[in-house]
Amino acid sequence: MTGIYSAPTRLERHRQQFPALTNKAYFNFGGQGTLPQASLDAIQKAYEYIQQHGPFSASVNGWIIEEANQTRMAIASELGAPVETITLTEDVTVGCNIAMWGIDWQPGDHLLLTDCEHPGIVAIAQEIARRFKVEVSTCPIMDTLNQGDPTAIIAQHLQKTTRLVVLSHLLWNTGQVLPVQEIVDACRSHSTGSQMIRVLVDAAQSVGSLPLNLTELGADFYAFTGHKWWCGPEGLGGLYVRPDAIESISPTFIGWRGILPNATGKPSWKPDAQRFEVATSAYPLYAGLRAAIATHQQWGTHQERYEQICQMSEYLWQRLSQLEFVRCLCTSPPQAGLVSFVLTNGQSHQQLVQFLEQQSCMLRTIYNPNCVRACVHYFTLRQEVDQLVKEIESYQVA
Ligand SMILES: Cc1ncc(COP(=O)(O)O)c(C=O)c1O
Repeated sequence: MTGIYSAPTRLERHRQQFPALTNKAYFNFGGQGTLPQASLDAIQKAYEYIQQHGPFSASVNGWIIEEANQTRMAIASELGAPVETITLTEDVTVGCNIAMWGIDWQPGDHLLLTDCEHPGIVAIAQEIARRFKVEVSTCPIMDTLNQGDPTAIIAQHLQKTTRLVVLSHLLWNTGQVLPVQEIVDACRSHSTGSQMIRVLVDAAQSVGSLPLNLTELGADFYAFTGHKWWCGPEGLGGLYVRPDAIESISPTFIGWRGILPNATGKPSWKPDAQRFEVATSAYPLYAGLRAAIATHQQWGTHQERYEQICQMSEYLWQRLSQLEFVRCLCTSPPQAGLVSFVLTNGQSHQQLVQFLEQQSCMLRTIYNPNCVRACVHYFTLRQEVDQLVKEIESYQVA
């Protein structure tokens, strides 16, 4: 026999469950995760089940209720939250819309955003400002990446009229993790008896990457998706609504899933966060997300996965920092899986990303701040990081 055969490591075997990882070095988990084969299979099986037993029948209707319950339970257990707090949505933005439009805004109320929020969420705030004559302002958090105190900055920007603060747990552009619990405490201590300042967290980048306990975290609303760091199918996300915040918002999009059966007269909302669910959805995705979450659990606890993410992002950060023409935005190792960097030699970030994609390395650019973002997951390999750094070096000489 010739050649040296080394048995695949546990991580290499684990990665074999993700078909998308076989032909590329993937660094876009903050955009969309790589679906495990078990999710694809579960989705297909669920579609087949519906056709075989219905599609519309008493038995399929009962099965759908059970699928939704199991999915809320799987999500709630990963997030450290009671199952009654979970609303199933399509994505992060729908969850943010539920919380933001749900407030009974009055002219002169104030909504505070950070300067690192996603454009889709900023657009919701702007439209609320226009329709209800609400004041929207932005506080400068981006500059606290390497020094400064984001909690103090948010506290300084609270007003007597502030009703809602919208912030991201893990900033999608710079990769900073905000101290949500501390920020919630600051908002609570600024709240007056009748006017509570509510906190909505955009959890697009934190769910599936940070270990979480939403009950301890204290935020009122936490909007997330299954299709990024959880590697579930696109089209399924959720919103956590803290039990004591549920009456502070009203459903805006309304349908049969949110009301009690046989309700007559005015709508009678379901008692828990299910009141924000609307109507018919792509139910087979539920099994797909549960299968993705189970795949991660097979590898390790969320604390173990997070530690592995941090080890890998530190390795990438170190390797990039050694390149003369690259500057990482973080001056110390990243706090999670997002590593953002700039080219200091004037070359175009867009062209670099295009070049890397031709070499089968997938990353993206960010426009504010203008940078390139690479995301590593717990199953990213050192070899992939080495390959990426080698390609970036070769682009520089090309
Ligand atoms: C911070 C943040 N918020 C919101 C979104 C939008 O996510 P979705 O398409 O799930 O609504 C993204 C997507 O990249 C994001 O990074």
